[in-house]
Amino acid sequence: GASLKRAAHDILIGNDLGGYTVPTKGLYPYQWNWDSVFVALGFATFDLDRAWRELETLFEGQWTDGMVPHILFRKNDPGYFPGPSVWQTSHEPFPTSGHSQPPVAAIAVRDMFEKAPADENAERAKGLFPKLMAFHRWWATYRDPSGEGSVAIIHPWESGRDNLPDWDEPLSLVDVSRIDAYERKDTTHVDASMRPLKQDYDRYMAILQSGRAVGWDPHKVVENSPFLVADPAITMILLRANRDLLALAERLGFQRERVEIQGWIAQLERGVASLWNETVQAYTTKNLRSGVFGAGVSSAAFLAPFAGISDPKVLDPMRNHFDRIAGKVTYMVPSYDPDYEGFEHMRYWRGPVWAVVNYMIARGLREQGDTLRAERVRQDTANLVAKSGFAEYFSPIDGTGAGGRSFSWTAAVWLAWVS
Ligand code: DGY
Repeated sequence: GASLKRAAHDILIGNDLGGYTVPTKGLYPYQWNWDSVFVALGFATFDLDRAWRELETLFEGQWTDGMVPHILFRKNDPGYFPGPSVWQTSHEPFPTSGHSQPPVAAIAVRDMFEKAPADENAERAKGLFPKLMAFHRWWATYRDPSGEGSVAIIHPWESGRDNLPDWDEPLSLVDVSRIDAYERKDTTHVDASMRPLKQDYDRYMAILQSGRAVGWDPHKVVENSPFLVADPAITMILLRANRDLLALAERLGFQRERVEIQGWIAQLERGVASLWNETVQAYTTKNLRSGVFGAGVSSAAFLAPFAGISDPKVLDPMRNHFDRIAGKVTYMVPSYDPDYEGFEHMRYWRGPVWAVVNYMIARGLREQGDTLRAERVRQDTANLVAKSGFAEYFSPIDGTGAGGRSFSWTAAVWLAWVS
């Protein structure tokens, strides 16, 4: 109750480095893209001005081609690897990483605007609107190389679900014979058993070097990356974000932009359909280099309602998966199917629960009238935080907290949704 609320406020305020918030000190000491957006929703519960500021500082990292990078390196922190000297991008006035992260920003802008659509909020939303357009246009222009409408990522880090078992097959095709020597820092901050393996990190570095080798040119990055995989989570999040952007265009009077956004929505609806995996009976990843689909059900499969998908051919199997998995774990929603052999309840994105993913899943379920399943997800999230505090992620089996502690987005979505 009150003491958790105070603790959540303290985490956001403590991780605020002056207009932007780090996910957690030590492990992630910079501004991260989708973390910042969820943080804004947390700030919006007690300081709406500060919430807008978080999104405005995030968009200070936007590239001229529209891309919003996954990390903004405002001041160097030697405690993090790979830092700006490894990425070697050329954004001014501060360096950034070279690829993006799930585009949740428009969703938050609409939420914050709807909270109080008065002058001040309308002005802030209007200021961000053209930047959101440029960001969404970047995805539509550069990240649909298959032409099927699904969104391709060039690096597991771009998905935000870095260590998903579905990346194993595409990563296995990545050549690591020419990577530079490097030294990880993540495992000096948290237990190595909760983090990706060295074999994965080697591949992360090989992909990073492939982007650096072409100077992060948005076309060449896609051509040159040894990893190009369509991601159902990003595809569905962008679909949702475009629906919110369209609503914003209507409310804020951006008439000319509407047709373009409607085109993106139609394209993404086709793209989602191309990720339906008949064998698994769920939306999964698809390796665009080999054509191979992901092996199992990840938490992304439950984002379909959030994306506004209402087809019973999709939702009936989704509910069956939900109920089967809910019978296996104590805390929903595990990032990967516990019936899959590669499931690990404590290792990064191979099983653990994330509060931010739960928030999006539950919100979609609730919007579709499935209050029972939505409430199970919310209650489980409340129980996890009550048991283990504001950890980065949690075991779905026993609720143990994992990864970084005093974690901004866990505190933020707890404020915005759970409490
Ligand atoms: C990492 O784990 O450092 C990745 O950059 C996360 O985004």
